[in-house]
Amino acid sequence: MDAKNGTAAKQRPGAQHGPGAQQARKIHAHVTGWGRYVPSQVLSNADLERMVDTNDEWIVTRTGIRERRVAAADETTASMGAVAALRAIHAAGISPKDIDLILLATLTPDYWMPSTAALVKEAIGNDKAAAMDVAAACSGFVYGFATAQAWIESGLAKHVLVIGAELLTRFLDYTDRGTCILFGDGAGAAVLSASTEPGGALGIELTTEPQGAYMIWLPAGGAKSPPSAETIARGEHYIRMEGKETYRFATKTLASTALESVRKSGLQPDDIRLFIPHQANIRIIEAVAKGLDLPMDRMFTNVDKYGNTSAASVPIAMAEAVNEGHVEVGDRITIVAFGAGFTSGAVTIEWTADPARGQAADAAIDPSDVHVRLPVDWDSVDPIPPALAELMNRPGSVDVPLDDVVPGEPQTVSRV
Ligand SMILES: CC(C)(COP(=O)(O)OP(=O)(O)OC[C@H]1O[C@@H](n2cnc3c(N)ncnc32)[C@H](O)[C@@H]1OP(=O)(O)O)[C@@H](O)C(=O)NCCC(=O)NCCS
Repeated sequence: MDAKNGTAAKQRPGAQHGPGAQQARKIHAHVTGWGRYVPSQVLSNADLERMVDTNDEWIVTRTGIRERRVAAADETTASMGAVAALRAIHAAGISPKDIDLILLATLTPDYWMPSTAALVKEAIGNDKAAAMDVAAACSGFVYGFATAQAWIESGLAKHVLVIGAELLTRFLDYTDRGTCILFGDGAGAAVLSASTEPGGALGIELTTEPQGAYMIWLPAGGAKSPPSAETIARGEHYIRMEGKETYRFATKTLASTALESVRKSGLQPDDIRLFIPHQANIRIIEAVAKGLDLPMDRMFTNVDKYGNTSAASVPIAMAEAVNEGHVEVGDRITIVAFGAGFTSGAVTIEWTADPARGQAADAAIDPSDVHVRLPVDWDSVDPIPPALAELMNRPGSVDVPLDDVVPGEPQTVSRV
């Protein structure tokens, strides 16, 4: 890799002209870093049974979800995103100051403005990157990844940080069993770096089908329906979803989007070591495997542990897949997602980084060392929804499975 030597910008395609000019070498976008962060607090199906009319058996059978994570009161989308970002940057072996562009995919930004990407830029100690948020719902990380790839391949950037971060539990109606059981909090990130070595990100496929615009949406708070006492009384600041329509779209589109990305890479599904799909529902992932005519062991899944973390889902899954030894140098993997919009996206990647770097990065970055600057004199209301706060305030403790604890995070969380 020559990513650190600054050759990328000099070798921009088309930069050399005239007789005798050397053919400029193509620039490739390699994944050099990856990381994730999930909050310690676990919300199990049994916990949800105490909040809404549901049960563990229904949730597991229909979705595959057993538990999800809930951000603590002092955590935000930016703070979780910054931890995942620093882990990805550490794995890449570069300094936060080397990042040229920060793309943060989220549907739960800390504020309408500034962008959450700007807050993360400051928190990680970068002083030169352009920073912006990506709004493509659960497909947001894949959309951001494809944009990063384009910036690198065109010579505009040498190192791009792509983050997917979500704090969905603050936008859920804990009286609506159709949505509140599905979602959880967390963040994942990747660093893409320029290199003239072949490999890295290959074929991209992105689609948007606006006929699904109102199948998953958050009705109020935007320009069409600004926040008011009435919109809050009607619960329009919570996520709404037509589950069946969304399910239909997802099962139709995920396999075809993945397949198109694989084909654009000059490959066949069987050439892909591991598909890393958006973790919305195990039945949807099974449908993807069926659609691609592949066994389930070619699909990475962790939906049982985190539920649907929207834009964070794919980068969390990618980091876990690599850190758990499912991906080796030379393997081809395909990341694929769908979400509100309806959006869908996939990128096929030839993996070129040493997988061991991910675990070392997890251990090196302690979340308690990462700080997002708060506004001056800002006295925020308690951000935890009352139904969750009631549950979290009950005495007792929740055991976090030991194999799922990122070094540096507490292993047991007290609810007191
Ligand atoms: C949400 C989802 C799990 C619901 O599963 P489903 O099989 O479609 O279930 P239905 O909505 O048809 O509901 C079936 C029954 O279960 C009930 N039900 C719904 N949620 C329930 C819950 N949490 N617990 C128990 N029962 C529930 C329904 O009321 C319905 O009861 P009825 O037959 O008496 O009317 C499924 O539609 C889904 O996964 N959709 C995609 C969601 C998604 O991926 N969203 C994110 C996109 S990024």
